[in-house]
Amino acid sequence: MHDIVLTIFALTGLFALISMLLPLADRLAVPYAVLLAAVGCAIGGLAAIVGDNANGGGMVADMIGTLDGFNLSSAAFLYIFLPTLLFETALNVDVRRLTDEIAPVLLLAVVGVLVSTFVVGVALWEFSGVALVACLMLGAVVATTDPVAVVAIFRDIGAPHRLTMLVEGESLFNDAAAIALYTLLLAVLLGEHPASPLAGLIDFVRVFAGGLVAGVIAGRLVIWILPILRDHRLAETTLTIALAYMVFVVGEHYLGVSGVVAVVTAGLTINHGGQRRLSPSSWKSLIRTWEQIGFWASSLIFLLAAMMVPRLLAQAEVTQLWQLAVLVLAAFAARAITLYVLLPLLSATKLAEHVRNDHKLVILWGGMRGAVSLALTLAATENAAIAPDIRNFIGVLATGFVLFTLFLCAPTLRPLMRYLRLDQLSPADVALRDRVMGLYLASIGDDIGKVAHDHHITGQAVEDAARWYARHTEAASTIAEENAQLPLESRLHTSLVILAEREREFYLEHFEARTMSRRAVALLLSQDAQLRDAVKTGGAAEYRAAATEAMRFSRRFRFDLWLQRHSGVERPLARDLADRLETSLTTRSVIQELRSFNTDQLSRLFGAGPSETIDAELNARIELLGRAIDALMLQYPNYGRALQTQFLTLKALRIEEEKYRQLRAESIVGNEVFNDLMRALAHRRTIAEARPQLDLGLKREELVAQVAMFAALDPAKRAKLCRLLRARLAVPGEVIVRKGDHGGDMFIISSGAVEVRLASQPVRLGSGAFFGELALLDNQPRSADVVALGYCQLLRLSSRDLNRLMRADDGLRRQIESVAGERRSA
Ligand code: CMP
Repeated sequence: MHDIVLTIFALTGLFALISMLLPLADRLAVPYAVLLAAVGCAIGGLAAIVGDNANGGGMVADMIGTLDGFNLSSAAFLYIFLPTLLFETALNVDVRRLTDEIAPVLLLAVVGVLVSTFVVGVALWEFSGVALVACLMLGAVVATTDPVAVVAIFRDIGAPHRLTMLVEGESLFNDAAAIALYTLLLAVLLGEHPASPLAGLIDFVRVFAGGLVAGVIAGRLVIWILPILRDHRLAETTLTIALAYMVFVVGEHYLGVSGVVAVVTAGLTINHGGQRRLSPSSWKSLIRTWEQIGFWASSLIFLLAAMMVPRLLAQAEVTQLWQLAVLVLAAFAARAITLYVLLPLLSATKLAEHVRNDHKLVILWGGMRGAVSLALTLAATENAAIAPDIRNFIGVLATGFVLFTLFLCAPTLRPLMRYLRLDQLSPADVALRDRVMGLYLASIGDDIGKVAHDHHITGQAVEDAARWYARHTEAASTIAEENAQLPLESRLHTSLVILAEREREFYLEHFEARTMSRRAVALLLSQDAQLRDAVKTGGAAEYRAAATEAMRFSRRFRFDLWLQRHSGVERPLARDLADRLETSLTTRSVIQELRSFNTDQLSRLFGAGPSETIDAELNARIELLGRAIDALMLQYPNYGRALQTQFLTLKALRIEEEKYRQLRAESIVGNEVFNDLMRALAHRRTIAEARPQLDLGLKREELVAQVAMFAALDPAKRAKLCRLLRARLAVPGEVIVRKGDHGGDMFIISSGAVEVRLASQPVRLGSGAFFGELALLDNQPRSADVVALGYCQLLRLSSRDLNRLMRADDGLRRQIESVAGERRSA
């Protein structure tokens, strides 16, 4: 048979096997990765026995023979599987939590690998007599941890989130560190690199940091491209697959940086930014596809790597057993040093939160080694440039160690965690669970009655089905009553966390319903992230502070304002104002929804106290938003109306779409009619989705025309005046003129109002008035602060031009001087 046919046959055979092993692992209650490794070893052993003479001897022999002949090189392992594995993990990590934990994660991953390589290397060198560099190489090979088995156990028993975060984060970065270190040591072993530790360290940092930058840039580039793909999910997923592999190859081969780090950071970048650029359903589908690909990759790499184990162990000698014992001890000692000496030091510097001792123990015991260690082992054993005895040394010991962690540590991790009670909910979670049960069990009991009635079921069946609920309702509500005594502070805290999370869901729902632009979603989600961060460690005060902060003009806004003032470029500022109005309007309606959520759900779960505080906070936010919206609507009423019309149109389109879907679901219209209706709808939606442009209204001629003072000027003079004036926008609360400053310009209010903060009492000036003239006329510092009350369109006149104007027009001069005189004497 043709080779390719046999290969496909063998590979699909593995797929069939994999599909069986997942449920089997569940059944046997062993970690899936461990079962894979065991089966892989068995197939490898079988293949070695059946060997070459199997070809042409029936289906099974064909398959095993082909598998035996696979001989995947280490490069194939790393290049085919690693990008997928890393990218998928990076895509699913909680990036915010990871950033919080970045110090301990990097310590465990990078410093941990260095310590482990050093300790293992020196210990084996001492005991085995093999060259130090070779021992260090072995140290690097066994330094990478594989989270698959451990994280699966964590999920199974509901381990604390932080523990999962640490273990997953560590394994994301330590592959890169170990591979970089391995490559470096290999070069030293082969005499290609000067064995100076400093040069080595610099190289290590360069490779790592370079990978980081490459990954972020590539990730950002893809985030930027994603919206161009116009919600074509298949295209979006494909692009991310291309990203994972391309950034790896480009990093490794063209830039000379760590491809592994580049893949990880590219994945994290997409994880962080991509979610805001894709619609929620596209994002879900992307994650689901990656989950499938990641599952294939991790299963295959484990199985194929384990299949080589018998071959690697075939050359083992009994004397190597005690070397293995040294390796095991040294590897655990190294991890213990990182966990129990370095990590507390890091916590003492406040760079990392304290890690609990029981968590440390689990991290120590749960440091499983897996596919990457085996791939590196393979890389060493297949490298003909390395002396045979060193190849054998690394091959046998590294494989032995991987098996030790997989077959001894993994199966005992679950009992250990049970013993440490890490499989139990925290008291606050227990309280919440009991309260949920207490509140809802009774109503479910009633629901059963209704369902039974609808389906004409009566008698014993209904009672049987409802019995469990009846039995638990009372018990649950008593426990819930007891737990309701939980301190107010902690109930409020939990409510606020849920509230901030719910707000995010509401935004995503709006986005999914396409009633909000992508830009607005991105802005709102990042605002909400700040809100969530604030409540994570704080209470109502922090919530309010974050909500108030969100309403301030952002740095970007202030930059665009500056840009308009100094260069006359209006577009960015106009876009910022449009964003501000759109996000404020959306937030206001979301907060209304949150208020109902608070009264309907949170108050029932956490009692009246927290719910009242929350209602007050939400009210305060609505007030703030109301002010921001009113200010904008006052200055740009037409634009405000246009945005509201757009919102309603998009909502209507959504309702229309749902109607069509319903008609199809009810088989009233067929696919052809439905598709036709949807095409027409999509067309109208594209038109409706284009956000109306906001005109800042800063045209000089128009502004001058609005000022009464200039009304008497003849057209020629007015045209001349126009050339002297500059238009600018002031935002609410902005200090336009500051007391004591040196004055350069005078301002004329074309629209809006300002407040002159005089020592005696504030004076308001409205459209047509001017200010800032005193400092110019008297050549004195500014006499008072002048603050914008809302959005104001101002005309600015420089000191020199003011003099020119006053010389040219007597009427204006008299008018300005008389007002100035009154003000001086006020
Ligand atoms: P200047 O001193 O340049 O800066 C502060 C400005 O506040 C000042 O110019 C006037 O334009 C304005 N101002 C000062 N006093 C009064 C007043 N009594 N009524 C209105 N505006 C005033």
